[in-house]
Amino acid sequence: MRKLSFFLFIALVIAGTLSANAQHAEYDVIPLPKEVKVDSANVFVLKNGMGVSFDASNEEVYRNVLFFRQWIEETTGITLKLAPGDKKAAIRMSLDYPKAKGEVESDLTEQQKEAYIIKVDKKGIDIIARQPIGLFRAAQTLRKSLPIVKNADKVELLYAEIYDEPRFEYRGVLLDCGRHYFTVEFIKKFLDVMALHGSNQFHWHLTEDQGWRFEVKAYPSLAQKGSVRAETVIGPGNSGIYNGTPYGGYYTQEECREVVRYAAERYINVVPEIDLPGHMQSALHVFPHLGCTGGPYPVRTYWGVSREVLCGGNPETLTFLKTVLGELCDVFPSKYIHIGGDECPKHRWQKCPTCQAKIKELGLKNDGKHTPENQLQSYINREVESFMKERGRAIIGWDEILEGGLSGESIIMSWRGTKGGIAAARQGHRVIMSPNVFSYIDHPQLKDLGKQPRTTDSYIVSASKVYSFEPLIPDSLTKEQQRLILGPQVNLWTEHVAYPQHAFYQLLPRLGASSEVQWCNPDQKNFDYFKKRLPRLKKLYDLLGVNYCKQLE
Ligand code: ACM
Ligand code: ZN
Repeated sequence: MRKLSFFLFIALVIAGTLSANAQHAEYDVIPLPKEVKVDSANVFVLKNGMGVSFDASNEEVYRNVLFFRQWIEETTGITLKLAPGDKKAAIRMSLDYPKAKGEVESDLTEQQKEAYIIKVDKKGIDIIARQPIGLFRAAQTLRKSLPIVKNADKVELLYAEIYDEPRFEYRGVLLDCGRHYFTVEFIKKFLDVMALHGSNQFHWHLTEDQGWRFEVKAYPSLAQKGSVRAETVIGPGNSGIYNGTPYGGYYTQEECREVVRYAAERYINVVPEIDLPGHMQSALHVFPHLGCTGGPYPVRTYWGVSREVLCGGNPETLTFLKTVLGELCDVFPSKYIHIGGDECPKHRWQKCPTCQAKIKELGLKNDGKHTPENQLQSYINREVESFMKERGRAIIGWDEILEGGLSGESIIMSWRGTKGGIAAARQGHRVIMSPNVFSYIDHPQLKDLGKQPRTTDSYIVSASKVYSFEPLIPDSLTKEQQRLILGPQVNLWTEHVAYPQHAFYQLLPRLGASSEVQWCNPDQKNFDYFKKRLPRLKKLYDLLGVNYCKQLE
């Protein structure tokens, strides 16, 4: 395998393989493909007007051909011709991936379904996948390989064979739209950027103490009133100074369906989160009878953890949750639904007669490991889980849901370090690893706080820190337990991130770093080499008009 470094480029120009004045492709993109073999003695020249052949009867393939054509034109200015069925076309996209002996389609892993091969030789470019998703991945790799030039009349590609598939099936990015509302237009751009990096799970944090953003038809006032806070605290930390400006916004179900559709075309699943039974103050504002004290509860105007949570003993709490989650399932087809579960203080439950009566009725006792109140939260989780199971969905919860005893098949999202994930995997549960010190990209990325917008600055999460994460925790988990780790996720919380360009600044280039955690095998990872490859990706960020942190630490 050879990487086309600057020195190799010079050598190839001198040897006459690449022309000194022609633009050329470089295949070592971010995230790095599994295998790149380059034959530096030969070059294929991609030119304006060349054809792309494909099977026109397959709509999904056709869609990916259109993406490919659009991206090549955006980056190089080269326009390709659609040439369905033309075997002599210079570029051929097909689903003719070689079958391994005895390969059965139904036994393929999610990662194998995403596999692709790119071959560049004298016949042109072959893009081969098992399924259309692989064509999409291959098209992204070629898009990132090509030079960004406005109007190239040709681009040189060294002969090459690229083979690729992702390491993890779950490659997530969270966007918190509870603390701040982001438009559907922004979310589409966010999804485009995720797809550019090969991420495939958009964790959409839709409800918070500071705002309810999901329309529920059974409760029209929930989003109408629960999405609006009277004002917002100014600055990081709780300064006690408020801006006096009402703030709101929510997504109609129609808009949510549009996000799901847009994401699906880019092979991204939308995992919606309704955070329960804590982080519910915006719902309590609308339905104060669902709280232990009866309220009143304002939609929260400052950050941190609220003591006001849903009453765990009131049967109407479960009716409310099932109505909300039922509608959520109607809108979001995801096989995973996130039910939060984090930061649910038990102060109110300890004193609430309704909660205490329920604890008694259920016979919940302190068993030395779990308090009765934590078990009450587990009871709610179990009720919700079986409701979701009837709808064919699995629940994901933050690692706090371990604290009352874990139910059935719930998936743990480990955020307070990796401890929760390790404990869950040891109990046979599936896990998504999102430990805050490696994955919370709301935190600053540079040591010098003065050089970046102020955010949650209790610790630094530099790009190199993000890059260094190893999700399988090999020192703590057996091979069998490691198989339960579905993959990693980075989280963009937005207490202090209110605007699109700031959101992208927080995201990039750390998503680039995370993409190699998500996609690459550990033996492929090398931060210095990542650093060398990043400038080309940044040019693409520039082309797409998305902001990013210019410095890398
Ligand atoms: C979390 O950061 N509270 C999941
Ligand atoms: Zn209560």
